[in-house]
Amino acid sequence: MSVKDKSIMSNERRLIINVKHYENAVGKRAKNFFKSLPGSNSFDGWQIHYAIGAYDLYLAKEFSDKVFIAQHVDPNGYGAFTGRISMEMLIDSKINGSLINHSECRVSSGIIEKVIAKARNMEFDLVVCAENIDEVTSFAKSGARIVAYEPPELIGGNISVSTEKPDIIAKAANICENNDSRLIVGAGIKTGRDISISLKLGAVGGLVASGVVLSSNPADAITSLINI
Ligand code: G3P
Repeated sequence: MSVKDKSIMSNERRLIINVKHYENAVGKRAKNFFKSLPGSNSFDGWQIHYAIGAYDLYLAKEFSDKVFIAQHVDPNGYGAFTGRISMEMLIDSKINGSLINHSECRVSSGIIEKVIAKARNMEFDLVVCAENIDEVTSFAKSGARIVAYEPPELIGGNISVSTEKPDIIAKAANICENNDSRLIVGAGIKTGRDISISLKLGAVGGLVASGVVLSSNPADAITSLINI
C-alpha cells in the first residue's frame, strides 16, 4: 500500500498522537514506544496518525502498519535550505503529512499560506494548527483541508478543550464545513468522553499528546480514546 493510499479517507475519523519531544517516545526509545502501539487501521472508522520529529522520520520505513506524519514542514523544496524540512524530503521518507503551526512551533501567516497551497498541489496531508476562532477561519478560508483547533492555555493540562470550549468547537466545525475543510481538536484530551463530546460538536477527531504519551499504558490510552 502506498503512503498516499494510507492517508485518511474523507469520511473517516482521525486521532493524531503527537509525541512532541517526550523522552520515552523519541530517539533511542522511539522504536520500543511505537512497537507497543496499535496500527493505524486498528479501529473501524478511525485512522490513527503518529506525529514524530525530524530526528525520527526513519520510523516510517520500519513500521509499515502505522501512518506517521511530521510535526512541522517548511515551504521550501530541495536546495540550499539549512535545517528545513521539505514536503519532498518527507514524501521520500514515506511520510505524506504534517502538522504546521503547532503552538510550540509557530510560523508566520505567509509561510502557512505557502505551505497550504503547496500541500494541495502535492496532495500532502497537512494539518494546520489554530489557536483561536480567527485562525480557524483564516486557515479554513485559505484552503486548509484539516484545521486543528488547540487553545494553548489548555495544552498539557487536565481540562479538555471539549469541556472548556464547546461553543468555539461548534462554531469552528461549522466554519470548516462551509469552507470544505474539516476540524479536529486538541488540548487536555484524556478520555473517550472528551473525544465523544468533540465529535458531537462537529469535529472529526482529536489531536492528543500527554494523555497517551505520558500514560502508564499508551496503547490502552489510545483504545480508551477511540472505543466510545
Ligand atoms: O499536539 C497536541 C497537543 O498540543 C495537545 O497536548 O498534552 O494537551 O494532549 P496535550
